[in-house]
Amino acid sequence: MCGIVGYTGSDTAKDILITGLKRLEYRGYDSAGVALERTDSDGATQLDIVRRVGKVVGLESELANMDDASTCGIGHTRWATHGRPSQANAHPHASCDGRIAVVHNGIIENFAELRDELEQRGHTFRSQTDTEVFAHLIEEAYAQEHDLMAAVREACTHVVGAYGLAAVCADEPGVIAVARKDNPIVIGRGERGSYVASDVIALIDATRDVVVLEDGQFARLTPEGIEYTDAAGKTIQPDITHIDWDIDMAEKGGYPDFMLKEICEQPRVVRDTLVGRLSPYGELDIDELGLTFEELNLIDRVYVIACGTSYHAGLIAKNLIESWARIPCEVEAASEFRYRNPIITPSTLVVAVSQSGETADTLAAIRDARIKGAKVFGITNVVGSPVARESDGVIYTKANKEIAVASTKSFIGQIVSLTLLALLLGQVKGKLTTGQVRMLFHELGDTAAQIQHILDTQGPAIHEAALACKDAPSALFVGRGMGAAISYEGALKLKEVSYLHAEAYAAGEMKHGPIALIDPGFPVIAVTTKSPTYDKTVSNLKECEARGAKIIAIATEGDEDIKQIADYVIYIPLVRDAFSAITASVPLQLLAREVAVMRGCDVDQPRNLAKSVTVE
Ligand code: F6R
Repeated sequence: MCGIVGYTGSDTAKDILITGLKRLEYRGYDSAGVALERTDSDGATQLDIVRRVGKVVGLESELANMDDASTCGIGHTRWATHGRPSQANAHPHASCDGRIAVVHNGIIENFAELRDELEQRGHTFRSQTDTEVFAHLIEEAYAQEHDLMAAVREACTHVVGAYGLAAVCADEPGVIAVARKDNPIVIGRGERGSYVASDVIALIDATRDVVVLEDGQFARLTPEGIEYTDAAGKTIQPDITHIDWDIDMAEKGGYPDFMLKEICEQPRVVRDTLVGRLSPYGELDIDELGLTFEELNLIDRVYVIACGTSYHAGLIAKNLIESWARIPCEVEAASEFRYRNPIITPSTLVVAVSQSGETADTLAAIRDARIKGAKVFGITNVVGSPVARESDGVIYTKANKEIAVASTKSFIGQIVSLTLLALLLGQVKGKLTTGQVRMLFHELGDTAAQIQHILDTQGPAIHEAALACKDAPSALFVGRGMGAAISYEGALKLKEVSYLHAEAYAAGEMKHGPIALIDPGFPVIAVTTKSPTYDKTVSNLKECEARGAKIIAIATEGDEDIKQIADYVIYIPLVRDAFSAITASVPLQLLAREVAVMRGCDVDQPRNLAKSVTVE
């Protein structure tokens, strides 16, 4: 959470910082700020710090009247952890003399002790943030070292916690010092200067060849170049990563919002995630797993660990892994898994699912599982992310950059990737023949066209259903089997983008409590696709109908009977139950978005959320 950006070169820094911050807003958007170097009338360099509560667009207007002269600066967009969203707590934070400014993404765990010590030594704090200690620590070190990079390195030795940090100093014009531990930093060199950011999306206009800084590495950016060093200050040569997507993916491309654009990209995500995965002989190709067939054959327990939407992808995987490979599979919130003592043996496979690849709880759970001896396999959307780097093997979901905070296309990419894994385990365990794998693989690929069909035909039905929900105080999502798993995701999507309270239940659980909520007009959104439990779900819906619920059914094309109990029907094509989560999730995503738009919500940046959750 929080996005940082920095530029030093020959162009106008404020424009580059604002463009970068807008692209990083998905990481947090409660306040934003910049520190820009300025040459005063005496020829001395000063730092101008401008901060605003709210989104980057507010900061942009504030900067509009500032001249364009500054060619070096740092910026930040914040998701509050320590200290409420306010101007004083917005970054950058400055040293007592105002000559050093820092932006930080992460958490400083020992900030209270450091703050006490610094105050005792005469430093004055102006915010409630943990970050401000960095500014004062660097100030003290600079007084000794007279070198910004050395001072940053020294300050880091006192800090316990996570940071992606960029600092500027008025006494070293044109220099940006950067440090990283456990939070992402990418650095790039363009024709007109040097760039740093939390995510490549902020610097892709300037270069596609970037350095993903590793923990414990430092960088010193100047207009002329970049020097990378280790914790001892020794020069290092980091690897260059080439980015193969382009900036079109970070633009709305005619759609009113990123959420809709990303929902509409899902057919491509299915196709891209499957490209090259099946050999002409029907063998699945998931070499990145990092495990031989013999090692895979020994696996006798699978844990899927993840958070939020990624956790829901895990619920779907459980059904597939258990039914195709007959291996017990548990799905756990990473935040719970990491504090339990789960049963892990060398034959346990832990599958960590994370769009961002940097979720703090998921990363901590990966580390814990590996210490306990499990093989860890990551499924992530971000190349070179911590989840990718810390797992034994990785599948990339090929969703490409996801900008809307609510996850949609990467969820589909996760389900497709997990389905591949389940097929592979089924094949290796001898539970699925090569012919069955080939058939299932092709049916999985067919979901791309089926999603497109839903997108092309169901808009009006979804609009009507959204009108029926938009003023309700609450909504229930129900289903059985795959329908239950996808209901949890439907409820999450609705509440996070529309702020309408929603819960999901396995349909058979309704009569054990939740049915008490039903009164006339209460919306019940039911996944009633054709499946072995279709009739049971319909019975449960009849119980809701009898109590006056307004029923919105996601049903299989051709199912006319459902109209007898459902007030609204959204149809999706007939697919094998195993793949119904993929198709059924599309109308649920569209429904959530439509309700949110009707309620006047910002669907791309819902309140209180951030896309990368790098704190516990
Ligand atoms: C909801 C959503 C979140 C994330 C969760 C995990 O739409 O996006 O619930 O799924 O924060 O994030 P990742 O997948 O990046 O680990």
